[in-house]
Amino acid sequence: DRSIKIAPSILSADFANFGQEIQAIEAEGCDWVHVDVMDGHFVPNLTFGPPLVKAIRPHIKTVMDVHLMISPVDQYLEAYAEAGADVITSHLEAGPHVHRTMQATRALGVKAGLALNPATRAEEAEYLLDMVDLICVMTVNPGFGGQKFIHSQIDKVKKLRAMIGDRPIHIEIDGGMTPETAPLMTAAGADVLVAGSAVFKGGSVQDPAPYGENIRAI
Ligand code: DX5
Ligand code: ZN
Repeated sequence: DRSIKIAPSILSADFANFGQEIQAIEAEGCDWVHVDVMDGHFVPNLTFGPPLVKAIRPHIKTVMDVHLMISPVDQYLEAYAEAGADVITSHLEAGPHVHRTMQATRALGVKAGLALNPATRAEEAEYLLDMVDLICVMTVNPGFGGQKFIHSQIDKVKKLRAMIGDRPIHIEIDGGMTPETAPLMTAAGADVLVAGSAVFKGGSVQDPAPYGENIRAI
């Protein structure tokens, strides 16, 4: 279904070759590029910051979807906007003022994404619905690629889709997406699927054809 967007996470790409990896996944037909920023504090893993995100921006022709797994987040929003993010997603759990975070993101001219950890209730998003462009439902605990899909989140996506009504809000799923789990989430109401290990497995910049097969299989 082409109205479903596939957003490969470069967390599973070759970190020494981001430019070529991005060119390969776009040539193989991905819709967005998902960029996972981790701070070793909000999540128990560390990736990269604004200079690297800025450096990869010219390689992305589609949409740069930046997922900030950092706390605090507000003081870094401007740097990621300046780095060229199209969407900046911050976690509801990252601080006490997520409403302000969403306002600040939109004020920078960037689409505002709200991420919910697996234990966070759908209802927590209720008073933010008019200020977000995307809700990211974490279907693993954030921090690592290649983890197992958490089935309880299917119900959360259904609740969110009902709460959203006719607002133009994407529901993005992040974690454990495979050809088996992805249809469960699109049936529940998701329209953007992040996939790391399932996209990059079996391929490389020298042999990117598996990336395309993997994208089409999800
Ligand atoms: C997890 C990240 C995800 C991750 C998904 O903290 O936010 O984007 O890369 O990886 P897979 O698809 O392998 O579960
Ligand atoms: Zn992510």
